[in-house]
Amino acid sequence: MDSISHATLSKIASDFGTPVYVYDCNKITSQYQRLTNAFNGGDVRFFYACKALTNVNILRHIRSLGAGVDCSSINEVKLAVVAGFLPSEILYTSNGIDFAEIEEAQSMGVHINIDSLSNLEKFGKKFGHSYPVGIRLRPNIMAGGNLKISTGHEKSKFGISVNQLDKILALVDRYDLFVQALHIHTGSDIRDVDVFLKGIEILFDQIPFFKELEIIDLGGGMKVPYKKDDEETDIPLLGMKVLEAFAEHPNPNGKPLQIWFEPGKFLVSECGYFITQVNVMKQTGAANFASVNSGFNHLIRPMFYDSYHRIENISNPGGDSQSYAVVGNICETDTFAWNRTLQEVREGDLLVFYNAGAYGFEMSSNFNSRLKPAEVMLKDGEVTLIRNREDFDDLLRHQVL
Ligand code: LLP
Repeated sequence: MDSISHATLSKIASDFGTPVYVYDCNKITSQYQRLTNAFNGGDVRFFYACKALTNVNILRHIRSLGAGVDCSSINEVKLAVVAGFLPSEILYTSNGIDFAEIEEAQSMGVHINIDSLSNLEKFGKKFGHSYPVGIRLRPNIMAGGNLKISTGHEKSKFGISVNQLDKILALVDRYDLFVQALHIHTGSDIRDVDVFLKGIEILFDQIPFFKELEIIDLGGGMKVPYKKDDEETDIPLLGMKVLEAFAEHPNPNGKPLQIWFEPGKFLVSECGYFITQVNVMKQTGAANFASVNSGFNHLIRPMFYDSYHRIENISNPGGDSQSYAVVGNICETDTFAWNRTLQEVREGDLLVFYNAGAYGFEMSSNFNSRLKPAEVMLKDGEVTLIRNREDFDDLLRHQVL
């Protein structure tokens, strides 16, 4: 499971300081290969959902593997361009955005998925049949690790409900829309292959209504392991079942359908390590607190989603196992882990958080006027700083003094 040794992590901490995010490119490569192997033989493309981690050095590495990129804002589209992606390799899956951004994406020549009747109508009025468009549908199924990261259910803001198919078709008809793609993304941390298949079954009912369809975009959401022996999505099974399902449902309108995926976590979660240092130990009646030089300002997932990140004390591998509450230094309840068994923790020890590649740095903030950490990349044995640690001036940069 661990691909970077403790010795390398300690060296990075002493060379670059802490807290620091570290990303292992070899892990991203092997995850990408797992996907391409599983779908070998199918007409399948993968667009990395870069909202998980947008550092352009990581984007460049992912492009070098042959993947495209899925973006969720016009700025992500621009970062993808900086990283060298061609417009044909960029997908913009928009949600609830101002139509001006869709126009900008169109002018850049990227693929666009639209997720509201309102923007679809504006798109039709402006572009008619002249520019292909994808439609994000909501299949109204529950999927994903918890409600906050479930996007395909009835109460979700995402997509256009399949129950509104008549309204979609009226717009397609009125503006002669060129609907090239149908899209679903039902959630994140989806473990069961059957849940992916449920969404696909619902899509199969919609496909016959779209005469010019070329692409079915199934989004991302594959679950990765967070603990030793944790369950993850069975990727070979997913590949087999999805290809089987499409073989059994050939497009009634003749064109063979290309399948797209938008994996985020699957590609980058496990490549990431977040190294922190223990500031203070505090024993109370409730717990033995280890307070690190970070907080939910740098890694929000435990507080926001109750997500589990494996933690190791890499400074004391031979220490006795004890139970700790690992907390941050933010002036608010800021718990990374409660009742966690670690090797004896002392002030100054380095605690490493695993699965820190996806939605880690990317969701960080300057809360409490703390500075964002540095990012470091490991590739082919080389260690490279890919983002400078912020400094005090960054806090003042946009303030009017
Ligand atoms: N495609 C679309 C349209 C999405 O909205 C997302 C994620 C993905 C693909 C990639 O999903 P993934 O493969 O990473 O599960 N911040 C949360 C996850 C939110 C996911 C939002 N959308 C977390 O840290 O668990």
